[in-house]
Amino acid sequence: MPSILVIGNGAREHVIAETLARSVHHPKLFAFMKSNNPGIAAHCLETRMGSYGDLEGITAFAREKGIDFAVVGPEDPLEKGVVDALAAAGIPSMGPRREPARLETSKVFTRNLLKKYGIPGNPAFRVFSSITGVREFLKELDGGAVIKPDGLTGGKGVMVQGDHFDDVDGALAICENILEDSGSVLVEAKLDGEEFSLQCFCDGETVVPMPAVQDHKRRFAGDRGPNTGGMGSYSFSDHSLPFLRPEDTAEALVITRRVAEALRGETGIPFKGVMYGGWIATAEGVRLLEYNARFGDPEAMNVLPLLKTDFVDLCRSIVDGTLSDLEVAFERRATVCKYVVPKGYGLPADHPDAASRESRIVIGQAEGVNLYYSSVDKREGGLYMTSSRALGVVGIADDIVEAERRAEAAIGAIGGPVDHRVDIGTEDLIRRRISHMKALRG
Ligand code: GLY
Repeated sequence: MPSILVIGNGAREHVIAETLARSVHHPKLFAFMKSNNPGIAAHCLETRMGSYGDLEGITAFAREKGIDFAVVGPEDPLEKGVVDALAAAGIPSMGPRREPARLETSKVFTRNLLKKYGIPGNPAFRVFSSITGVREFLKELDGGAVIKPDGLTGGKGVMVQGDHFDDVDGALAICENILEDSGSVLVEAKLDGEEFSLQCFCDGETVVPMPAVQDHKRRFAGDRGPNTGGMGSYSFSDHSLPFLRPEDTAEALVITRRVAEALRGETGIPFKGVMYGGWIATAEGVRLLEYNARFGDPEAMNVLPLLKTDFVDLCRSIVDGTLSDLEVAFERRATVCKYVVPKGYGLPADHPDAASRESRIVIGQAEGVNLYYSSVDKREGGLYMTSSRALGVVGIADDIVEAERRAEAAIGAIGGPVDHRVDIGTEDLIRRRISHMKALRG
């Protein structure tokens, strides 16, 4: 019976814990969390609360519990070096060490890595450490610009022309702010197309793809409103998406394999964990928006419930570097994940709905769905929301229409001042994605 430590406290880690718990090896699960997630705790023998920067505390807990390996959910502990700290204590992880995790923690590192190793996928880009030359480069970008700080921003730091600024002067003001804060800024060409997530298992050499998923970052239906950590996502039973061609996912996979090799060459350390590419399919092929060094949230909730391979065996093979010996398979079913959020989520603190953030929610009967807790607090009086996403509701069925119907039916049975995106996974939204790509590809 292996002892496994899950690090993280969100819905992503809830599905990770659930998937580990259904292993034939009946692992003893432990969790280190920033805040108490009752869904994760329900799968664990013991949990410990603390900061992800407390590497000593995490390592001491892992030692005390005789942990065989850790599974790291979020990016923060990866950036802080939790995998290196655990490795120094002789405990391996399904999650990359700090250096290869730069794939996510430094956007400049990743753009330069692809460039240095001649790997396709980068849009036109330049990195600036002063404002000199920024105006000239912005003028070269006919289709508009995207401005990114180098480091982690919780998915909310990317500034897109047309959404966050209108013209070269607006872009320059943003670049100046970022330069003042962090000393460097990434300016890229804005691309037109449809985004998709391709998460891949990687043991440092072998790269195995999971089903493709489409995430929805904007707060409101129709892709309106502020960017969030992700409002929901869907996947199809054929493990592709209807607006993609087979070449699109194949190209993203080939690039990811080359990046895994380049990372090893560059850092001398194999990447062990999940390489999650945020891609955009364009008229000219796929382009890389960014890599993450972990499962996506919400995307983990689309793929892990479909995993047929024993997850403990899979994590072991990644840790041991034997992934090529394992057959990794997913059920051929469709999934629709919708995040239930407090009505005030993503809105300014003085908005009338902001008060909804600390409210109680009541979860009703739900058939054919999986529920994953995100930011909820279990108190004597029941389940309370915080200011963040509360609950991931995942409909799973043979086709997307039924998966979406199940998710909606379950959300309809939730009581409290909550909101969600009704359009995620609907036929209408997907038809629009298909038309968009058809128009682009002529
Ligand atoms: N799906 C967005 C993220 O996990 O960063």
